Amino acid sequence: MLSIERSSQNTGHRYLPQIESSNVPVSPNQQLLPLTAKVNSNDNLEIGGCEVKRLVEQYGSPLYILDEATLRTTCQQYRDGFADYYSGESQVIYASKAWSCLAVCSIVNSEGLGLDVVSGGELYTTLQAGVESKNIYFHGNNKSASELELAVESGCQIIIDNWLELKTLASIASEKSTKPIKILLRLTPGIECHTHEYIRTGHLDSKFGFDPNQIEEVFAFVAKQSSLECIGLHAHIGSQIFERQPHQDLADVLVQWLKKAQGYGLPVTILNVGGGLGICYTESDDPPSITEWVKAVAKAVESACDRHQISLPKLIAEPGRSLVGSACITAYTVGSDKEVPGIRKYITVDGGMSDNPRPITYQSVYRTIIANKMSAPLTETVTVAGKHCESGDVVIKDATLPKTEPGDILVVMATGAYNYSMASNYNRIGRPAAVLVKDGEANLIIERETYQHLLERDRLPERLRYPNINQD
Ligand code: LLP
Repeated sequence: MLSIERSSQNTGHRYLPQIESSNVPVSPNQQLLPLTAKVNSNDNLEIGGCEVKRLVEQYGSPLYILDEATLRTTCQQYRDGFADYYSGESQVIYASKAWSCLAVCSIVNSEGLGLDVVSGGELYTTLQAGVESKNIYFHGNNKSASELELAVESGCQIIIDNWLELKTLASIASEKSTKPIKILLRLTPGIECHTHEYIRTGHLDSKFGFDPNQIEEVFAFVAKQSSLECIGLHAHIGSQIFERQPHQDLADVLVQWLKKAQGYGLPVTILNVGGGLGICYTESDDPPSITEWVKAVAKAVESACDRHQISLPKLIAEPGRSLVGSACITAYTVGSDKEVPGIRKYITVDGGMSDNPRPITYQSVYRTIIANKMSAPLTETVTVAGKHCESGDVVIKDATLPKTEPGDILVVMATGAYNYSMASNYNRIGRPAAVLVKDGEANLIIERETYQHLLERDRLPERLRYPNINQD
């Protein structure tokens, strides 16, 4: 059940999380604002005890503001949910592609979660954040030989996606490692789910994982490799999923494959069901709570094991979006506007598709509020445009807002997942800073990119250096 208040209140207050009103723990993935969101006596939005307007004055605009309490709550809800509802061993690993940086990796690590990485860069970040390699799982459908070597050196678990990788790793392992490398196999389960086609991965026509037709051949091959120890199976069916059934179906398919793999003598004791639980971006989104999702998955695995007569595997889930998505907002400053008579009014903010490419990539819809006018009545319908030279750079179409003026602080909610991690420097716009807020304290966790940062990796060949070029 969705807990965003759908009251008739015609102000920015309508998105404040409803914490006091029920005994059921609030699930952050069902909220648009972080759990600590409040309106203070200046009619300003506060997150983590910090006024958003002040944060922008101090750290600049646009600004990602990450609420530590919300992130820790999602981690705890996943962890406690599996402990409560699954009788076997379990582990939650954070899909760090949702937001990979030292602070986020370090918080989820301190909550006892493992981490999933999909590139040498994410692996490096995770290791630098102090995560132990036994808690790191390396995914990816085209890992390079050097990424595989880094993974072997670090001692993390590797999730094998295809034949080339399997064979390359077997040879790296026999050359470089004295003990067998722990691997999991990623399989394509042939399960459809209702989400954007770009973020669906479990259907048969997917670039990820071994096709079900090849499974027996793969099991037979892996069983003969003394340099590899296959400890489990993995599948991920997609992202921003609101139904529980696809993961329940997946549990059954994976349990059957686990039994088959055991038949080949593989020491498989891990079943990894991937991530995918959705979050609320608007009040009409209705995902299950974290606890409801965990319970459904845990019970499905238990009953499948019972049906197929195998003992309970260690159950792993690897959520990304639902851990970090609702913990963050992006604060922008309102600038110019344009009225197209009889058609629409545009207001423009100082960011857009470079700090949040999701609207232009997936037609994602977001909600917004004006942080410095939280109680002002919502009297205007405007389209919030970004500042990039591209007509499609629209942050939110037809947003309902109070009357805005240049300098107002416009907040876009639920931007923690796949915003910073997919940000670019399009139009040579520097990526925003990010701050972590907690109990009235703010810490810079990502520095704003300056003009110097933008030029840091440019190289100008000598023959292009004309005397009149000023490089300072
Ligand atoms: N495990 C694997 C193997 C994945 O590929 C993903 C996401 C996850 C776990 C985490 O899924 P989540 O819990 O976050 O749904 N850029 C897109 C999302 C791409 C998801 C890619 N894989 C977006 O902005 O919606």
